[in-house]
Amino acid sequence: MIYELNITDTAQKNISSSECKTLTPELLLKAESIKKYFPVRGGFLKPADKWIRAVDGVSFDVKKDSVFAIVGESGCGKSTAARLILKLLPLTDGKIFFKGQDIAVITGDELKRFRRSVQIVFQDPFASLNPRMRVIDTLSEPFRIHRIIPKNEIKDKVEHLIEKVGLNADALNKYPHEFSGGQRQRICIARALTVSPELIVADEPLSALDVSIQAQILNLIHDIKKETKISLIFISHDLKVVHYISDEVAVMYLGRIVEKAKTEDIFNAPKHPYTELLLASAPKLKVRSDELGVMSKESKLLTLKSKLKTDIGDVPSSIDIPSGCPFHPRCPKRFDVCDKVVPELKDSDGRLVACHLY
Ligand SMILES: Nc1ncnc2c1ncn2[C@@H]1O[C@H](COP(=O)(O)OP(=O)(O)OP(=O)(O)O)[C@@H](O)[C@H]1O
Ligand code: SF4
Ligand SMILES: [Mg+2]
Repeated sequence: MIYELNITDTAQKNISSSECKTLTPELLLKAESIKKYFPVRGGFLKPADKWIRAVDGVSFDVKKDSVFAIVGESGCGKSTAARLILKLLPLTDGKIFFKGQDIAVITGDELKRFRRSVQIVFQDPFASLNPRMRVIDTLSEPFRIHRIIPKNEIKDKVEHLIEKVGLNADALNKYPHEFSGGQRQRICIARALTVSPELIVADEPLSALDVSIQAQILNLIHDIKKETKISLIFISHDLKVVHYISDEVAVMYLGRIVEKAKTEDIFNAPKHPYTELLLASAPKLKVRSDELGVMSKESKLLTLKSKLKTDIGDVPSSIDIPSGCPFHPRCPKRFDVCDKVVPELKDSDGRLVACHLY
């Protein structure tokens, strides 16, 4: 159910310009035309003469208890979008609202609450764990910083968490180097869960892992999601992985969304030629069941390739974005208008597509 806030005269005065004017009860995060341009300088202290348009006018909503996936090839702006959402980078333009509040202007206690509510799981589970801290200290730290529970309850809570991600309590006294990549990613997931977040941004959480481990971690994320009802922004270059876990998918190309739809629609009938090509070129791997342990039947159908190989040539640079449709140099369906006019992202049968064919 979508409703416009019914703003009475009195209420109007209480709503600052930093609040989102369109709210739905189920809306958690809203990105409105967000942009991030990085300057390219010819030399030290010289003014920028060009800009990398890493994220170039992207809009999307993340609903409560849902998984929103962002998919695209390397360099299309996925991680930059993640860092903007986490308020780790300032926006060049646009707005991000978390529970109706503009994250650009939040400070003090509101910022602390935001930092607690939105957590990240990174691609590289080794780099994101402090090698000098035992797991128990890594997992206890957020409880201490945010003073969530009394000190004498932290140990029990941490033990519960480590078991929830499929590790034994023995793991708590060990250091990160004593674990495999998959186990380390389980610890990172446990750390993200410590503060009971409302949103987890998972930036390629599988791609640094062995193929045989990826499905197990994906299943863990899936189970935790089901149990906790936390929302997820799941970033991946692998469309097949996204199929398994997400409710909605945004396909990004050179900093823009080219198609956004319900996951099933994207997979059953992709519309944008780039989405079609990504799907067609995603390798169909036959995964041996002994590699999958206790995986569900559904999971066994997953493609577990760590890098999506496409046979549609190289991605152009985000500095010199092609004229017209940015995808036109690689598009098998391009026609005369494609290199001249930028296609807008617009509705086509209930989904959004940026292509002159629709
Ligand atoms: N801090 C930065 N300074 C300058 N350019 C940057 C910076 N961070 C990212 N970029 C550039 O912005 C573009 C988007 O990068 P980003 O890391 O967001 O892509 P990505 O989709 O996450 O790629 P990958 O799949 O390889 O992780 C790239 O051209 C990248 O080189
Ligand atoms: S607008 Fe033209 S070039 Fe771009 S995806 Fe559509 S058909 Fe291809
Ligand atoms: Mg990235």
